[in-house]
Amino acid sequence: MAKSVRKFLIAGNWKMNKTASEAVDLVSELVGEVGKTTDVTVCVCPPFTCLESVARALEGSTVRLGAQNMHHEASGAYTGEISAGMLRTLFVNYVILGHSERRQYFAESDEFINKKVIAALEGNLSPILCVGELLAERESGKTLEVIKRQIDGGLVGVTAAHADRLVIAYEPVWAIGTGKTATPAMAQEAQGAIRLLLNGHLGSAAGAKVRILYGGSMKADNAEALLAQPDIDGGLVGGASLEAKSFIKIVQAAQKQAPIRGR
Ligand code: PGA
Repeated sequence: MAKSVRKFLIAGNWKMNKTASEAVDLVSELVGEVGKTTDVTVCVCPPFTCLESVARALEGSTVRLGAQNMHHEASGAYTGEISAGMLRTLFVNYVILGHSERRQYFAESDEFINKKVIAALEGNLSPILCVGELLAERESGKTLEVIKRQIDGGLVGVTAAHADRLVIAYEPVWAIGTGKTATPAMAQEAQGAIRLLLNGHLGSAAGAKVRILYGGSMKADNAEALLAQPDIDGGLVGGASLEAKSFIKIVQAAQKQAPIRGR
């Protein structure tokens, strides 16, 4: 199946930034510029505390809402946690899972992340499953091994029926927040390998439907070359998503190529 079946997704990962009023200011600017976009899916992932106000600010626009994490249980004694159902009530469509910061600072394992992926899919959310190697792993030639372990571990129980909603983000940890971007060729090499793993898990027809994002210092000036790669179907953008102007430029870089890809 051709690359053109996959619509670009540009998702902003705000991390632990923005109060609710700052969030509404940023989103209002985004809605003004890209709020009617249909050739590219645009999504913002604010902190939990901003979801409700951002959902309201996005009403009537095509910009989608995402969360940055969730718990796999529906409810119960899990102090500080939030479930898929709770996110759905706030009109959330996407949820970032297994981000390297969660793996690194909160010791999230592939097994734990897998439970969340399944709960997100069962809860009608689109999980954005993050994978990627540390610098030491790349330097010792372990990149593909690490990615395989994270994909195999994260996708237990995921089937072809989930392919439309499943999103993977390849984020080399050494490129996150550092200004060091993977070259388009390096990103494609990893993302091509992820596509083959997806084909193995889901079958190649379903594997071809899954969007694979690149994340790690994606900016206006490198987005176009990255997005031109056959298995780069969008971006998970951290730093450059905190200001409307830089995020919009990345959306526009995707839009430039959207007609080539189709819907
Ligand atoms: P960055 O973050 O764009 O600031 O490198 C990306 C991410 O962590 O999702």
